[in-house]
Amino acid sequence: DWNVEHIAYATWADAYVVAPATANMLAKMAHGIADDMLSTQLLATTAPVFVCPAMNSNMYAHPTVQENLSTLRGRGVHVLEPDSGLLACGVEGKGRLPDPQKIMDWVDFHLGKTELLEGKIVIVSAGGTQEAIDPVRYITNRSSGKMGYAVALKAAQAGAKTILVSAPTDLAVPIGVECIIVRSATEMKEAIDSYYDSADAVIMAAAVADYRVAEVADNKIKKQETMTLELVKNPDILASLGDRKEHQKLIGFAAETQDVITYGKEKVRKKNLDMLVANDVSKSNAGFDVDTNEVSFIYPGDQIVNLPNMSKLDVAERIIQALADL
Ligand code: C5P
Repeated sequence: DWNVEHIAYATWADAYVVAPATANMLAKMAHGIADDMLSTQLLATTAPVFVCPAMNSNMYAHPTVQENLSTLRGRGVHVLEPDSGLLACGVEGKGRLPDPQKIMDWVDFHLGKTELLEGKIVIVSAGGTQEAIDPVRYITNRSSGKMGYAVALKAAQAGAKTILVSAPTDLAVPIGVECIIVRSATEMKEAIDSYYDSADAVIMAAAVADYRVAEVADNKIKKQETMTLELVKNPDILASLGDRKEHQKLIGFAAETQDVITYGKEKVRKKNLDMLVANDVSKSNAGFDVDTNEVSFIYPGDQIVNLPNMSKLDVAERIIQALADL
C-alpha cells in the first residue's frame, strides 16, 4: 500500500510481540525514542504490546534495564520474565528467551482475557489418581489431564483465582494457575476440602479412582504365580462436596461408554450438581488422550445442551461461560 508505512502497520496489528527485546529496544520504548522501523511503530500503535527481554544476566539485572521495565509495566506493557540457563554469551544466568510456544501461550492468554469470573475462586481437579499397591506400583486410569488443564487455563483467563488440584500428568501448569500435585483420591479430597469453604465453584474433571488397595505393602511385593488384591471403595469427593454445598457451584464430569445421558441425569441428582459435562469415551475423537471432545451439558431438571465435536480448549471455554451464567 502507498501509505505512511509505520502508521499502516501500527494500526493493522492486533498485538506487538517484541521477542527478543534487547536492553536497547526496552530503553527506546521507555523513553519514546523512535529512530527505526520497530521503535517508531511501537510509539504509533494502540495495540497491546508484549516484550520478552533476553540478554546477558548482568545487563538484565542492571538498574537501568529494571527501571525501564518497570516504566513499561506501569504503562500496561506485558513483560515475560526471561528463562534461566546457558546464555548466548556463554555464561549461566537469567536472560534466555523463553521457548516460542511459551511466548505464544502467554500472548494468547492475555489477548483472550475476560472478566467473566473476576473476583471468583475456582477449584479445578484433573488427571487420573494413582492408588499405591506397594512403594513401586500403583493402579490408575487412562485420564491424560488435558480436559482439566484446559478448564483451569480458561478459568484463569476469565479472571478467576484458579487452584488446580491435579494427579500427576505430563502437562505443564497453565499460565495464571496455582497447581497442587496430589497422587491418590484421599490426597485429592484433602486438598480440595481445604479450599472448599472459600471457593465459589468446583469443577471436578479428575478421573478419581473408585477403589484403592485395602492394605498398601510397605515393601515391594515379590512375584507370585497368581495374586489377589483386595480393593476398598474410595470416598466420592464430588458427592461429599454436594452434600455440604452452600454458595458453591458444582460441575462434574461423567465419562461413559454407553447410555451417557441416562447415567448423567442420575449423577446430577445423586451428587447435587449444578451442571454435568457428559461424554462418550468410546468415540475415537472424544475423551481420553485426544485433543478434541464431544460433550453434553446436563442440568438439574434434565435440561440438556449438546455440543458438537471441538477442541478441549473450546469445550473448556464453553464450560467457563456456562459457569459464569450459573
Ligand atoms: O460416578 P462417576 O465416577 O462417573 O462420577 C464422575 C464425577 O465424579 C467426576 O466429576 C469425578 O471427578 C467425580 N468423582 C469423585 N470422586 C470419586 C469418583 C468420581 O469426585 N471417587
